[in-house]
Amino acid sequence: MKRIAVLGSTGSIGVQTLDIARQHPDRLQVVALAAYRNAELIRAQAKEFGAKHIALSDEQAAREAGIHGGIDAVTALAALDEVDLVVVAVNGVIGLMPTIAAVQAGKDVALASKEVLVAAGEVVMPLVREKGITMTPIDSEHSALFQCLQGYRSDQVSKLIITGSGGPFRGKKREELLRVTTDQALNHPTWRMGGKITVDSATLMNKGLEVIEARWMFNVRPDQVDVVIHPQSIAHSFVKFKDGSVLGQFGWPDMRLAIQYAMLYPERKPNDLKSWDPTMTPTLTFEEPDTSTFRCLYLARQALKTGGTMPCAMNAANEVAANAFLNGACGFLQIADIVEGVMVKHAPGRPNLENLVETDRWARRTAQSLLQVRR
Ligand SMILES: NC(=O)c1ccc[n+]([C@@H]2O[C@H](COP(=O)([O-])OP(=O)(O)OC[C@H]3O[C@@H](n4cnc5c(N)ncnc54)[C@H](OP(=O)(O)O)[C@@H]3O)[C@@H](O)[C@H]2O)c1
Repeated sequence: MKRIAVLGSTGSIGVQTLDIARQHPDRLQVVALAAYRNAELIRAQAKEFGAKHIALSDEQAAREAGIHGGIDAVTALAALDEVDLVVVAVNGVIGLMPTIAAVQAGKDVALASKEVLVAAGEVVMPLVREKGITMTPIDSEHSALFQCLQGYRSDQVSKLIITGSGGPFRGKKREELLRVTTDQALNHPTWRMGGKITVDSATLMNKGLEVIEARWMFNVRPDQVDVVIHPQSIAHSFVKFKDGSVLGQFGWPDMRLAIQYAMLYPERKPNDLKSWDPTMTPTLTFEEPDTSTFRCLYLARQALKTGGTMPCAMNAANEVAANAFLNGACGFLQIADIVEGVMVKHAPGRPNLENLVETDRWARRTAQSLLQVRR
């Protein structure tokens, strides 16, 4: 029996995580739940699963609901004695401190919040190795890579090939993206996800974040991570080995399979998910990404190449810009402009925790001021 804490339990990944816990009551026991401010849902979840500990990071919502409040209360859940595995599925780099708290306390981590490794992979992964905990990925692409890598060492790998659907605007050119709406960006062709990641999928920033996440999670060089567009979202990623052999992992676009694998690893248990068969999708296609239209993928790669605190600044700028687009405060193409504007102004330093926190704050302020100028 694994005793789990789910941080971000009210979101898209959180709700699907609890669906998997519901299917495996003999393996998974939910003991702690955290969210931002959705008191009603977190209470209902705690009641259903008998979770003893809940927290909301929004202090006012927490006070009104009589629940422990603040990011410190959320972080404390990650280090509880009675927790074995922490599922980090909050919306962005806000998951960093809870992840570090979990690793420091010797808990295994199932990571959905890719922004944590994008901003701080160089700090988090050495700690993971030092503490000897297991970090399993929830992102479907990284789950595919993790599964294909079982039994192999990173020095046997030639390339990690991350697949992406291309999002709702695949095939469009810059002129056609000038006036696209939030609703159009949220209309993802194959996945149903939270708002911010769906916008990232439309800009292709999501692939850029995944390249950086893979670089740190699997300890490979940046030039060993490639991206290929695969509109059907059936092949979830590939590993090419030094002998030329390529392994891939296939399945329907349903996050629950990756979530189950991350939580029950290394076990494989039957479930009620629809399983895939090759004859059901006889046509699978692959193409190069268009990085001149979708500049965010290019910018993320540049941030990784520059290194230091640059990916952290890039990520913070993107969080601000993507959320601004979601709230109607900027246009679609301005997301990349704001990310680039922040990167140009950033003088990268050495990535230790203190520097990263300061860089994240600075990049948010700078992105906000660029947003004001553009209005
Ligand atoms: N959805 C997917 O299919 C998918 C796939 C791969 C990776 N991911 C990654 O998983 C993470 C979550 O994505 P999502 O789609 O599940 O997002 P989401 O639906 O927007 O849910 C976000 C969750 O985080 C909570 N949250 C937000 N800010 C918080 C804060 N400051 N402190 C504590 N909790 C906070 C929210 O609580 P409230 O409900 O109270 O606001 C909610 O529970 C992201 O990093 C994303 O990139 C998602």
